[in-house]
Amino acid sequence: MKVKAWKTAMSLALKKTPRTVSEFEKLPEHVAIIMDGNGRWAKKHHLNVSKGHRQGTETLREIIRHTDDLGIKVLSLYAFSTENWNRSEEEVSALMQLMLDFFASEIDELDAKNVRILILGDKGRLPEKQRETLKEAEKRTESNTGLRLNIAINYGSRAEMVKAVREISVLVKNGAVRAEDIDEQMISDHLYTAGQPDVDLLIRTSGEQRLSNFLLYQNAYAEFVFPEILWPDFSVHDYDLALDAYGHRDRRYGGRKG
Ligand code: IPE
Ligand code: IPE
Ligand code: MG
Repeated sequence: MKVKAWKTAMSLALKKTPRTVSEFEKLPEHVAIIMDGNGRWAKKHHLNVSKGHRQGTETLREIIRHTDDLGIKVLSLYAFSTENWNRSEEEVSALMQLMLDFFASEIDELDAKNVRILILGDKGRLPEKQRETLKEAEKRTESNTGLRLNIAINYGSRAEMVKAVREISVLVKNGAVRAEDIDEQMISDHLYTAGQPDVDLLIRTSGEQRLSNFLLYQNAYAEFVFPEILWPDFSVHDYDLALDAYGHRDRRYGGRKG
């Protein structure tokens, strides 16, 4: 590396203020984040787990803002999995309440920023109030053309695939589609993320290195980054470092260069 390029790389790595678009090699179109580590953060601070989740929503706000500032097209956030119902009633209800609080405090700003909200997952199992709030947020922002913000709630990738298979089966049964015409695109079109680009960069905080049933189909060729930072401690600077790591990855899609 030339001295000047090295100096620029070093000064960017040390820079703690949020970066701007021109300070990245290349940016992903679609970032997916598994926001993990709220429980461990709470434990570390001798707090109730719900305090960890609440602190996590502060990170969430900052990360959404920065994603929007950078002009990234799609941000998918894993907020509640189909498996998270297995947690204590107290924790589940704290998460449900946080959901309401988050939308109450953020929806005006998100809408004003032209953000389009889409909920990934089955709203059917959620309490009525939550279901209505989520539907309202989607409806209110459906014609917005800025950042596409996907929030996965009661989401499981396998359940999403089952849904897609069922929908396509009905089309085959009705004669609208022939079995031999089913292709990868058609499957994509029946996922919650229909019409959106695949995930380019997947970030999972807290050091865990697994997908936990998140966007399995959409992550087929995603680059993975696993920062060892608990979600409530994850800063915009840490996010910039993950985006920067993406910019230096060599994506091959099975091919060979040169
Ligand atoms: C992620 O944090 C948030 C949700 C699953 C809702 P966790 O609550 O899983 O945090 P850890 O993994 O216990 O630290
Ligand atoms: C995945 O995290 C779900 C969310 C972040 C919402 P979990 O903490 O629930 O996943 P596991 O249990 O560690 O795989
Ligand atoms: Mg966890």
